[in-house]
Amino acid sequence: MTLAARFDGFADWCVGTSPLYERLARGVAGDAELLGLARVVPSDRSPPHVLLAAVHAELLRGVSHPLSTFYPSVADDPILVESENPFPSFRSFCLEHEERLHPILETRRTQTNAVRRCTALLPAFEFVSRLADREPLALIELGASAGLNLLFDRYDYEYNGDCVGNTDSPLCLSAAVRGDREPPIPNQFPRIDSRIGVDLNPLDVTDLDEARWLRALVWPEHTNRHRNLEQAISIAREDPPKLRRGDAVESFPDLLEKIPDSLPVCVFDTQLRYQLSDEQVEQLDESLTEAGKSRELYWLSGHRPAPECEHGIVLELGRVVDGNSVVEPIAAYNQHGAWIEWVGLTT
Ligand SMILES: C[S@@+](CC[C@H](N)C(=O)[O-])C[C@H]1O[C@@H](n2cnc3c(N)ncnc32)[C@H](O)[C@@H]1O
Repeated sequence: MTLAARFDGFADWCVGTSPLYERLARGVAGDAELLGLARVVPSDRSPPHVLLAAVHAELLRGVSHPLSTFYPSVADDPILVESENPFPSFRSFCLEHEERLHPILETRRTQTNAVRRCTALLPAFEFVSRLADREPLALIELGASAGLNLLFDRYDYEYNGDCVGNTDSPLCLSAAVRGDREPPIPNQFPRIDSRIGVDLNPLDVTDLDEARWLRALVWPEHTNRHRNLEQAISIAREDPPKLRRGDAVESFPDLLEKIPDSLPVCVFDTQLRYQLSDEQVEQLDESLTEAGKSRELYWLSGHRPAPECEHGIVLELGRVVDGNSVVEPIAAYNQHGAWIEWVGLTT
């Protein structure tokens, strides 16, 4: 696929959810100079995500430019793209700040940490906890970014108006529940013995630049997501999650080895696998299966698009039963956690 086609594809993806990014990505797709700038992004990353986030990061850092007036995350009274085309401003920003953008484009990755995905993870962890006879779980998150989803039990939740969770938390994550089946939403959080995340580039919420990159990855119009992220960052700063730098597939056996055999392990990944090669995914599945043959281990993975659901993802549960790996869908969720649908059993 050409680079222009990738920007066009990104613009299509933004329809209905980010009119600003739709216009900007469409503009870049037809602009040889900006495509040249986007070519700086290493080939294993998504140039549209990284270029748009790099510009957003600079605006969030306070760089003054007329472009900022189009960004709801920066301007108090943003100009609507329906009334003025933001692309000429975006273009002039990129060309004026090319030098400053280069190192960001060369080094940063798409690492959006969508904390609202915890609305799907909470019933999934509860389900796993029931399968594990309520023994405390050892959590391992693969592709954890800043690890905000490892801290799922520091948040409050609201499902179709019903509140559960940590009611003292300043962050309330809400989701609409779809479908006929009741998700196993617990009154009390499942018990967690230990938690650790691994990422190629773990983001440290206590570092101003890294926290800004997390913010920059959230699309400018998504004000609720910005608010959730802000709260989650401040919660995580009080006691940051334990994260390790490394390749998830390579590090997994070592992480597992450090967990006592007596503990049931729950490995999870959300929106990681699309960033892995087919070989890495295969290797990961093999490692999970092998590990599941010799100890109690469950794995949750959200990566497959849900059929006929716009921006929906299937959450699968894997485990080894009678020596064979069994992977089944248990839920579907909106990519950012705005709705969930339970499709698995409830016990
Ligand atoms: C789109 S983010 C998702 C973050 C988080 N799981 C969530 O759902 O909010 C994908 C993360 O996977 C990480 N990643 C990509 N390839 C990886 C690999 N081979 N090993 C470890 N982490 C990886 C990226 O650095 C990024 O932080």
